[in-house]
Amino acid sequence: MNDTTVLHAAKKAKRDEFYTQRVDIENELRHYKQQFNGKIVLCNCDDPRESEFFKYFAENFEAFGLRRLMATCYKSQDVDLFSLGTSEKAIYQVYEGDINGNLTVDDDEIGVHELRGDGDFRSVECIELLKQADIVVTNPPFSLFREYVAQLVKHDKKFLIIGHQNAITYKEIFPLFMQNKIWLGFGFRRNCAHFKTRYEDVATDQDHRAGMIRVSGVMWFTNLDVKKRHETMPLYKKYSPEEFPRYDNYDAINVNVTSDIPYDYDGVMGVPITFMDKYNPEQFELMGCSDNGIVADVYKLPHFKRHNEPYVGGKKLYKRIFIRHRRNPANPVHANSASSASLR
Ligand SMILES: C[S@@+](CC[C@H](N)C(=O)[O-])C[C@H]1O[C@@H](n2cnc3c(N)ncnc32)[C@H](O)[C@@H]1O
Repeated sequence: MNDTTVLHAAKKAKRDEFYTQRVDIENELRHYKQQFNGKIVLCNCDDPRESEFFKYFAENFEAFGLRRLMATCYKSQDVDLFSLGTSEKAIYQVYEGDINGNLTVDDDEIGVHELRGDGDFRSVECIELLKQADIVVTNPPFSLFREYVAQLVKHDKKFLIIGHQNAITYKEIFPLFMQNKIWLGFGFRRNCAHFKTRYEDVATDQDHRAGMIRVSGVMWFTNLDVKKRHETMPLYKKYSPEEFPRYDNYDAINVNVTSDIPYDYDGVMGVPITFMDKYNPEQFELMGCSDNGIVADVYKLPHFKRHNEPYVGGKKLYKRIFIRHRRNPANPVHANSASSASLR
């Protein structure tokens, strides 16, 4: 089993007990520090007694200039790392900074409150806490990712959360990318992460670590501004029909490698999902995605009945994101474009 399959199996079995390491939280959060000044942070899938998210924000409360930190735990009240879900009651904790000035987070500075229910992020009392928050930061249950994001968007919250690359093309999530309501954060090295867990690590990759499971395709999803989203990808390839063939079923050309996107092609291009990591909305426009039906009918060639995966020369390819260059007369890229007139 590869490590993505491991995650898939875990998700199917609703095994959500993966715990984020401090180093991964630190590596991501350092890119957003100024945006937390004066804000109320909520970690709503986190046993505050164990969550590295809660500990990280509590210890860096003053450095981030936070106003309040809250965390809710789901079900278990056991003080142990791995929530066994043995209690239907849960707690939440509130930290408002270093009151006694000893530069440490003391137990008596943390308010512990009982929740009436099990701490489900969808419960009325947890939504009340969500309403108070400015920014939500956590690693939510992978099995409930769609609902989790929908709730954040509904309540118009800023967020920085961990999810799996597959979620990008969910039909509930991809439109949010198209509407600029979500994007990818800075990210994990090679999009892989080790999480603390009690599940056995059966991934075939050699990089096993005691007490941890390795998951590939892990990403940060956010609507906080991040520098990389404004960086223009340098492009050096010129379009040629031989190198970038047209799909059998979409009115678009196929690009196998993100860095090979032709700088002078103005029509729609299908690119690998890894493109999203480099996506700059000022450089490209998202037009859709192959496996969720989210692409305008005008790009679906009617003689081909299937439009949920891309085909070239009768051969099925991996899923593709459809993009095109943003038309910008000031940009020389567009001045000499070999555009496909039929796509406009
Ligand atoms: C992937 S784990 C991450 C835990 C923690 N946020 C971290 O990063 O270390 C997801 C957590 O969500 C909790 N959870 C599962 N269903 C939940 C729900 N409906 N509401 C709130 N939390 C839930 C699980 O118990 C689990 O601890």
